[in-house]
Amino acid sequence: MSAGITVGIITVSDRAFAGEYEDHGGPALRGACLESGWQVHAEAIVPDEIEAIQRTIRAFSAQGCGLVLTTGGTGIAPRDVTPEAIRGILKVEIPGFGEAMRMRSLEITPNAILSRSLAAIVDRSLVIALPGKPSGAVECLGFVKGAISHSVKLAMGVPTSC
Ligand code: MTE
Repeated sequence: MSAGITVGIITVSDRAFAGEYEDHGGPALRGACLESGWQVHAEAIVPDEIEAIQRTIRAFSAQGCGLVLTTGGTGIAPRDVTPEAIRGILKVEIPGFGEAMRMRSLEITPNAILSRSLAAIVDRSLVIALPGKPSGAVECLGFVKGAISHSVKLAMGVPTSC
């Protein structure tokens, strides 16, 4: 069951934030969420800055987003700080999400090994950090989708059974 999930989507990109190029990652994720029957409550574009990423995740969580998706900044370029931002505020990390995303993505591209994708509980939300390439973000979301509903309930403190 995946109904009833309220989502916040954050595009992490200096260039999209500066308006140097159009954001395609956020809209691609919005489409995937709507196809899943989820409600997209909030969207933002932020620069590759730890504080901006943390502040936006926490704001979306406070607004009731049980699921917060980020796209971008998971790689190894000097400005890629999304994993560090999330690790600075998480309650608990869930390594299986990153493991599954990398394992399945490696069947598509060897460059998937460069992504430090991860998932964690922050405040009362499940946060999933997806790669920046729009197709990669949607692919990775699909690889872990089956575990999202249960994880969001646990993050929000809703009683649930496996
Ligand atoms: N995963 C999937 N499924 N598909 C992709 O195209 N691109 C990879 C990787 N993960 C990719 C992927 C590439 S090229 C990079 S550099 C890393 O994600 C990190 O991307 P990011 O820094 O934009 O988050």
